Amino acid sequence: MTDLGPNGAQLREHQLNESCKVKKNPEHKIETKLAQLGRDPNSHEGFVNPPIQRGSTVLFDNPADLYRKDIKTYGLEGASTQDRLCSALTEIMGGVGTILCPSGLSAITLVLLGLTKSGDHVLVCDSAYGPTRRFCDEVLAKYGVETTYYPPSVGTEIGAFIKPNTVLIMLESPGSITMELQDIPAIVKVAKAKGIVTAIDDTWSAGVYFKPLAIGVDISIQALTKYQSGHSDVLAGSVTTNNEELLARLLDMHLALGIGTSAEDAWLCLRGLRTMAVRLAHQDQTARKIASWLETREEVERVLHPALPSSPDNAIWQRDFTGAGGLFSFILKPVGKAKIYAMLEAFEIFAMGFSWGGYESLVLYCDPQIKRSAVKWTENGHLIRLAIGLENVDDLIADLDRALEALK
Ligand SMILES: Cc1ncc(COP(=O)(O)O)c(C=O)c1O
Repeated sequence: MTDLGPNGAQLREHQLNESCKVKKNPEHKIETKLAQLGRDPNSHEGFVNPPIQRGSTVLFDNPADLYRKDIKTYGLEGASTQDRLCSALTEIMGGVGTILCPSGLSAITLVLLGLTKSGDHVLVCDSAYGPTRRFCDEVLAKYGVETTYYPPSVGTEIGAFIKPNTVLIMLESPGSITMELQDIPAIVKVAKAKGIVTAIDDTWSAGVYFKPLAIGVDISIQALTKYQSGHSDVLAGSVTTNNEELLARLLDMHLALGIGTSAEDAWLCLRGLRTMAVRLAHQDQTARKIASWLETREEVERVLHPALPSSPDNAIWQRDFTGAGGLFSFILKPVGKAKIYAMLEAFEIFAMGFSWGGYESLVLYCDPQIKRSAVKWTENGHLIRLAIGLENVDDLIADLDRALEALK
C-alpha cells in the first residue's frame, strides 16, 4: 500500500480527477471503444478495471424504496459489474439497453418466450442454431406458438411465409454450421411494413463485423460465450435492442424466469472485450488463409465461407459485413465414416468440441446437426466445421494437411 501522507486524501482525489478519466467519444473506432467501454476508474479508487461486485441482497434505509420499480431491489437484476458489461454492449451494438443471460441459448429463448403468446406464429431461418430450433419445436409448440422455417435465401419473398398471427422473425446470418447468409435488409423491410419484430443471433460477427440494429433489426443477440469472453471459460449471453417497449417486455420476462448472470462471468466478458478486436482480426485473417488453402485440396468439395470470392453469398457479405471472424465450414468429398473418424483422430492442434470463438482451434464433424425442413440440404459429402483460434496459421495448415492425408 502507498502512504500518501497527511494530505493523501486530497492528493488522491486530485490524481483521480486529473488522470483517470476514460473519455468516451462516439466517433472512436471499435478498437478504441472496446478498450474504454464499461470503465469508470474514478468510481473505484482509480483502478483501471472495475471490481467484481457480488451480491443477492440489496439493503434499504427507506421503507418507501422497497418496492420501487426504478431502482435495483435484488441481485437477479445484476449489480454494478453486470451494468458495466451491459452499457458496453449497448454502445457496441448501438442499442438503448442490454439484458444479460446465463448462456447464449437462454438469451435466444428469452426473446422467443418474451415476445410470443399462445396463438402466435414465428418465422425461424432453416439454418438456425440447432437448440433454437429444438426450443421452437419442443417448448414453444407446447405453449401453442407455431413455428415455420423459411429458406435462408428468402430475401423479400419472406412475405409469402408471413401469416396474420406472425409476431417475430428469428434471423441468424450466417447459420453457424452451413454458413448461408441472409439478405437481412430485404427481410427487415418486409417485416417493418407488417409491424413484425425481427431478432438476430449475431454471434458470428460478435456485433463488430455486422451492425444489425443499424440496418433496422429490432433485437441483436450474442452468445458472449464465444468471442466476447474469448477464452472458453464462460457461458453467457446478451440481448440488445434499440426499442424501449421491447426492452421493457424482455426485462419483465427476464425477471419472471429468474435468469440472472453472475458478476464473475460479466467481469470475464468485460475483460474479454478489451482484446476482442485484436483476436477477431487475427482469427479472421487465419481463417481466410486456411479457407483459401482448403479450396485447393482435392479432398474438399466446397468451402463454406461467405468472405471467399467463390461463395454464392459473397456479394451480401461484402455489402453488409466488415469482417468475418474465425468460424467456417467445408464439405469433404464423400468418404466412409471410418475415414472421417481417422481424419478427426489425426489432428494434433485442432481439438473436437462444441463451441467456438475461443483462443483454441476446434474441429467438428457436423452432419448429425444439420436439420432442415424448408429446403433440403443436398450436399452428399460430410460437413466439417472449423473454429479458428489464435495459433500460428502455418501450424494449423500443417495440422489440416496431416488430417486430410489420413483420409487416404
Ligand atoms: C450461433 C450460436 N448461437 C448461440 C449459441 C449458444 O450459446 P451458449 O453455448 O452460450 O448457450 C451457440 C453455441 O454454440 C451458437 O453457435
